[in-house]
Amino acid sequence: MKVNDVTTYEVEGPVAVVTLNSPPVNALSAAVRQGIADGLKMALEDDDVRAMVLICEGRTFFAGADITEFGKPTVDPSLRDLQLMVENAAKPVIATIHGTALGGGLELALVAHYRIAVPSAKCGLPEVNLGLLPGAGGTQRLPRIVGIPKALDLITSGAPVSAKAAKDMGLVDELAAEGHLRADAIAFANRVIDENRPLLKVRDRAEKLDEARGKPEIFADFRKANARRFRGFKAPEAIIRCIEATLEDKSFDEGMAFERALFIELQADSQSAAQRHIFFAERQAGKIVGIPADTPILPIRKVGVIGAGTMGGGIAMSFANAGIPVTLVDTSDDALSRGLRIIRGNYEATAKKGRMKAEDVDARMALLTGSVRMEDLSDCDLIIEAVFEQMEIKQEVFAKLDRIAKPGAILATNTSYLDLDEIASATSRPTSVVGLHFFSPAHVMKLLEVVRGKETRADIIATSMKLAKTLGKIGVLVGNAFGFVGNRILAARDAQANRLILEGATPEAVDKVLYDFGFPMGHFQMRDLVGLDVGWNREKSSSSTVREILNEMGRHGQKVGGGFYDYDESRNRKPSPVVQKVIEDFAAKQGIVRRELGDAEIRDRILYAMVNEGAKLLDEGIASRASDIDVILITGYGWPKYEGGPMFWADLQGMPQVIEKLNSLQAEYGDAFVPSPLIKRLASEGKGFRDA
Ligand code: 3HC
Repeated sequence: MKVNDVTTYEVEGPVAVVTLNSPPVNALSAAVRQGIADGLKMALEDDDVRAMVLICEGRTFFAGADITEFGKPTVDPSLRDLQLMVENAAKPVIATIHGTALGGGLELALVAHYRIAVPSAKCGLPEVNLGLLPGAGGTQRLPRIVGIPKALDLITSGAPVSAKAAKDMGLVDELAAEGHLRADAIAFANRVIDENRPLLKVRDRAEKLDEARGKPEIFADFRKANARRFRGFKAPEAIIRCIEATLEDKSFDEGMAFERALFIELQADSQSAAQRHIFFAERQAGKIVGIPADTPILPIRKVGVIGAGTMGGGIAMSFANAGIPVTLVDTSDDALSRGLRIIRGNYEATAKKGRMKAEDVDARMALLTGSVRMEDLSDCDLIIEAVFEQMEIKQEVFAKLDRIAKPGAILATNTSYLDLDEIASATSRPTSVVGLHFFSPAHVMKLLEVVRGKETRADIIATSMKLAKTLGKIGVLVGNAFGFVGNRILAARDAQANRLILEGATPEAVDKVLYDFGFPMGHFQMRDLVGLDVGWNREKSSSSTVREILNEMGRHGQKVGGGFYDYDESRNRKPSPVVQKVIEDFAAKQGIVRRELGDAEIRDRILYAMVNEGAKLLDEGIASRASDIDVILITGYGWPKYEGGPMFWADLQGMPQVIEKLNSLQAEYGDAFVPSPLIKRLASEGKGFRDA
């Protein structure tokens, strides 16, 4: 029987089945909360009913609070009211889980008296990814059911666990047969009734907490072990404090009040706003502007990768990880076997760390075939070139591919800067050519810039974006311009960073400002790590920049023990007096007067230059949305997630402040800071990038 728009109520013997259906993910919106309350009320008032099964239709159990309701006034019943109703129900409630029980969804399951799940289900508290903590008792109940160490791991990582693991740790009471969840849940409810099982409340359980009493080192060790991962984020520390509170001299209700207070604090913080922005921005990025949703997706069953170096190897691994066979081509047997050896080494290291099964190493390697003949790529559905970053070489490869590749194959380049249309013009089929810009290490980094050439066909773009998902990456569609989106913004940062060291800042000072802002490493540190010689041409080098001079001196970066910094054998970095002299001499030659520069100036010049470049990319249509730029900078360039990306960060400052800063920076430092026309327009209309 239909109770309301989202709830149906059925009775099977002594068991009431309350079913919720609110696509796409049964988020706990006001309507869903009311729907659950209505269904439970009917069951409680029905004298024939002795137990209740709470189940969802569609692809998942409740995926959490409805994030779109955050910041709006709460509509009754609140999630906490609903939880009290479930927990204090006079008849057992059985949470019946498929898909994902996440956040508030799992917290609702935790107030049920029993939990049953299908093996494919996953349970987790991912609030930390939104800059939050579980605000409906998750930090108080989970430790009581799985113990403190596991709760610390689960809640601060936000990573879901499989139903099997959940069963092993006591979070789930029973596993149902796949595809028989409803029937098995009803059978389980009947057993609960027949065996007269108690109304178990997680809040009353203490045994798992007792295991951790008198061991404060659990928390100290955990904080220490994760300091790097948590750096800058507020939510993990708040979560740890809430879990610590379960062992303090506090009643359960006091613990709940403590959790609530910290949840409200986090919810109002800009970190959570930034992380929620990125949650939606990542999903938005997958929606392709100007391409119909029903555009056919081409099958990608076999892939060719040209170039067995670091980039090509990482790309090949990404496909092998997704179960797609790859033919890896390089010019010599030596280069090939070296590439394949490195790949095997990477897999073995992962297996050693316990992040993959030892037997999977061979299985993945079996998906990789090496060849020195490009002709062996003739049956590939997609061929990605990852050779030297030079137009003539790329064009040569594409001209050859044009002769070899089967009709309909997608021809992709991994170029980071070069003109895609020029590369495509070397073929007779430019409509089949696309840019797939992976980031190093390609098997780890989540970002994939999908570059659309002026002739790239819609189905090639749609297939490339789908491919990103298959590889577990976030695909962002960008236009064809020097450096596309990410590297062009990086170039704007580079220009400022290089200028700053000539004007008087040390590389360490510039790097510290960026590190303190939240980047995992500073600009020059990153340059040294990547290698100063990437893109450097010995023949054309003319001592025209500090970087060229360092390269000419053989200081190619960390790998040779020296770049902008000096490195010891353990790759520890220290400032280099030699480099400092190079910088000072070069500045003198350029007639630049050196002076003291403060952190605020360094920060403003770098960040506002990045924002301004982002705005220009939007104006030129190279980026389709401001939020795409944020996704690119966060997933590919280490912009701190809790700062939401450069465009979100600029919106937080407010457009009047952005334009004022740019104007004053322009007056001092010239054209790099001329505000983009888009910024001027938005400021005059009282709008922000979020409206662009
Ligand atoms: N609230 C509102 N909308 C949500 C949502 C939520 N909790 N979770 C997902 N959605 C929306 C997405 O924005 C997307 O919308 P769109 O189609 O308009 O772009 C749609 O649902 C489908 O989502 P996905 O594309 O992500 O679908 P997938 O099948 O790939 O993934 C999922 C499903 C695993 C449930 C994933 O969406 C997810 O991880 N959701 C977030 C879960 C979460 O963080 N829950 C905690 C919320 S905070 C909370 O509960 C606070 C509490 O402690 C008080």
